Amino acid sequence: MASEKMLQLLNDQFNRELYSVNLYLSMASYCLSEDLDGFANFYRVQAQEETFHAMKQFDYIHQVEGKVTMQALSQPPAEFSGLTDLFEKTIAHEKEVSRSINELVQQALSESDFATHTFLQWFITEQVEEESTMHTLLKKLKMIGDNQSALYLMNEELGRRTFTAPAA
Ligand SMILES: [Fe+2]
Repeated sequence: MASEKMLQLLNDQFNRELYSVNLYLSMASYCLSEDLDGFANFYRVQAQEETFHAMKQFDYIHQVEGKVTMQALSQPPAEFSGLTDLFEKTIAHEKEVSRSINELVQQALSESDFATHTFLQWFITEQVEEESTMHTLLKKLKMIGDNQSALYLMNEELGRRTFTAPAA
């Protein structure tokens, strides 16, 4: 059984993952409105990943005898000034998520809650991967600049991304 404080932080994190789902769906919709179906697919898959994160936390909270409380989520941005802006906002968001996961890890350690600490390791690794993927894509975008053929190819490449649930 996790402490009340730990359960509260896990519940906040669960709701933050749901905000991430909404943010990435908003970004997917923006990409579609810009006729970038491949980029839209990338963000749609990203939203599926965030749902997976949320449900992993949902299950853990119940495993340690807690209960989930759904929170009101703030409205994600709906308009972006272009793909660079989109990816910069994505990176800023993922950094914020990493920061909050680190806070949970710190709390788990301070309480000697080694079970939750172990549970959170998966998310630490995941965040390194998320941030790295987004940085790589932003670098590619900057390389492309205003080259339409290169942008076409990147859109095609991102259109091939599919969601695969990671191994537990
Ligand atoms: Fe996440």
